Amino acid sequence: MPEDNENSRRKFLGIAMGGIFGAIAFGYIVPMAAYIIKPSLRRVESGWSDLGPLDALTAGVPASVAMTVVSREGWKEKEEKNNVWVVRGEGDNVTVFSPTCPHLGCGYNWDSARNEFVCPCHESMYTIDGKVTGGPAPRGLDTLPVKVEGGRLYVRWERFRLGISDKIEA
Ligand code: FES
Repeated sequence: MPEDNENSRRKFLGIAMGGIFGAIAFGYIVPMAAYIIKPSLRRVESGWSDLGPLDALTAGVPASVAMTVVSREGWKEKEEKNNVWVVRGEGDNVTVFSPTCPHLGCGYNWDSARNEFVCPCHESMYTIDGKVTGGPAPRGLDTLPVKVEGGRLYVRWERFRLGISDKIEA
């Protein structure tokens, strides 16, 4: 009889120890795996996109210019084409606007007769330098980061939250 008790006790201790070590290992393995895998599942936009020679743009005339954005979601890489609005100023001075209306995300256009950007969805209006002048848009047009190198214009794609007064990355 005492031997039976001893065996049961050993068995119980074995199971209990296994459970404790298993829980500790699980507690380490899951966060470590999440730490390693999580970044690869995030959506990552590419860096700078080459929009071509700056001299191809006329100062003071907004131009819709195509840009290719490479993004990675998990292990998948995809290419997306977007048209951004580029306004060249004096010299190398250039502003690039996201093509998305900050109200609810429609595409907007330059109306040369009215000399302003107009969104067809709810009639928000913006000056050539992106200030909102009418309609429900809660803020001006969102600018994108730009740089000029070797006479070429480079733009970095970003997305922003819609319908709020602050320009916050989405
Ligand atoms: S989405 Fe442009 S005004 Fe509403």
